[in-house]
Amino acid sequence: MKYCVETFDLTKNYGDFKAVDDLKMKIKNKSIFGFLGPNGAGKTTTIKMLTCLALPTTGTATVAGNDILKNPNEVRQKIGMIPQMVSLYGDLTVKENIQLCGDFYGVTRDLRDSRADELMEMVDIKYAENKPVSQLSGGMKQKASVVASLIHQPDILFLDEPTIGLDPTTKRVLWDMVEELNSEGRSIILCSHDMYEVELLCDDVGIINRGVLAAFDTPQGLKDTMINERKTEKTSRSSNITKIVEEIQKEASPKENASFNKIKDYIEKKNRDSMELSIMISNLDENIVNQLEKLPITYNITKQHSGRIVIEMEDSEESVTQIISSIIENNGNMTSISTKDPSLEDVFVRVTTKKEKVGEE
Ligand SMILES: Nc1ncnc2c1ncn2[C@@H]1O[C@H](COP(=O)(O)OP(=O)(O)OP(=O)(O)O)[C@@H](O)[C@H]1O
Ligand SMILES: [Mg+2]
Repeated sequence: MKYCVETFDLTKNYGDFKAVDDLKMKIKNKSIFGFLGPNGAGKTTTIKMLTCLALPTTGTATVAGNDILKNPNEVRQKIGMIPQMVSLYGDLTVKENIQLCGDFYGVTRDLRDSRADELMEMVDIKYAENKPVSQLSGGMKQKASVVASLIHQPDILFLDEPTIGLDPTTKRVLWDMVEELNSEGRSIILCSHDMYEVELLCDDVGIINRGVLAAFDTPQGLKDTMINERKTEKTSRSSNITKIVEEIQKEASPKENASFNKIKDYIEKKNRDSMELSIMISNLDENIVNQLEKLPITYNITKQHSGRIVIEMEDSEESVTQIISSIIENNGNMTSISTKDPSLEDVFVRVTTKKEKVGEE
């Protein structure tokens, strides 16, 4: 099986409102997939359809090779779900909730209890196994929910914002667990607003916006696309400026023309080979910035608070060396240096503020 999930024009309407609109998506088997999108984009609605908790209005999907409409029971056996809102029984203890889940999936009593112990140890909730769920903290409830969802050893695990409200250490426990489950061959579908989490864990990412799949790629692929789009935009911006300069040149004197040609060369050069470098300097002062501005390879320098400068400059190895030398010569104390590539958050904001649909594979 190549894909753990494949959707075919999957659509969910609430009255006239399309919460999920003609979704065509293929999630690789045994991968960790990050499902992103703004609030109300349709992530939970999609997950509900894929986990047979809600029926599609039109279209369908296969999950673990089974059609969600024709074989919902087979789908349910293959999946585990950690919902956005913890859905355990408050009056029952942690252990009783987990046992109930195991029984629901037909796990034998011995297996159920040994797995429950192992999983509870793993997420560190065993100490509270006899407490009613209603008396647990949010994070403890989430841990109990994780154990309950894994008791039948599902092939595919759906996690809908699983680390919300978890403390940093517990988050890491959950991330390690997701990686471990994946290395055992399980597919993971993770809805999240935490870009660090997504970048850390996910092989592929889909971004849904207003019910429509707006992007689908690896995290690096999404960033590369954004870098290329930015380059194209920059080229078109600078060619527009060049056109304006050429218009003005028609009326200019020979002397003015020479100056205009210099401007055009500068625009062209800057467009062809510029890069951005972000440098943190703990003792940043005017002199350091002035000296950098004097270098012929710097185009623009932006000073940010907290001593960071962003330098738009010629894209070559020698120019990076020149920048560093200049800072050192002027007694600048550099504490970090990095190229300014877009983050996954930049990609998210860009993709979700456009209205586009990605095609089928
Ligand atoms: N039962 C329902 N009845 C009517 N509208 C609904 C229902 N469930 C969800 N919606 C609407 O469908 C849209 C998608 O909701 P959904 O819960 O799928 O968003 P989401 O992407 O999971 O958002 P979030 O990141 O906030 O969890 C929203 O506009 C929501 O109001
Ligand atoms: Mg949701």
